[in-house]
Amino acid sequence: MTRKEQYAQLIPQIVGLIKGETNLVGILANVSAALHEAFPERFFWTGFYLHEEGKTLSLGPFQGSVACYSIPFGKGVCGKAWEQGRTLIVPDVEEFPGHIACSSLSRSEIVVPMYDSSHTFCGVLDIDSIRLDDFNDDDKDGLERVIALLMEETSNLFQQK
Ligand code: SME
Repeated sequence: MTRKEQYAQLIPQIVGLIKGETNLVGILANVSAALHEAFPERFFWTGFYLHEEGKTLSLGPFQGSVACYSIPFGKGVCGKAWEQGRTLIVPDVEEFPGHIACSSLSRSEIVVPMYDSSHTFCGVLDIDSIRLDDFNDDDKDGLERVIALLMEETSNLFQQK
């Protein structure tokens, strides 16, 4: 199966996980699990950092090994994706200035920022791969679709947080 096909298969599964649910932490945990399990040979950390108070991201639901609790605006790949307001693909984390290393196993990374229906920043989806240069435009498109779907269904839950 191609990556495109893998993401196409994931979409209905993720819709099923989210529809009608009101438990935001549970939804984010299940979405990170579904993504993580879809690519077990590549993804070793799959999860969310959430915008809490001020200019900081706070560790949210994830799958994988222990990770740092907070990331300031503009710092690391996550803080940079927030600052730049776009998906960032880092082919080699060692070449990314200011990369925050949570595990030496991480070789490449993709971070997708999340916005609610009022365009307010909510956090990021962060995925680390054990492979160098592992993320391409199929991952970007697929993961941005997953996040668009997630935010369509959970904007109100983020706003009530
Ligand atoms: N590498 C991230 C930090 C989070 S961990 O990868 C789980 C960054 O530079 O923002």
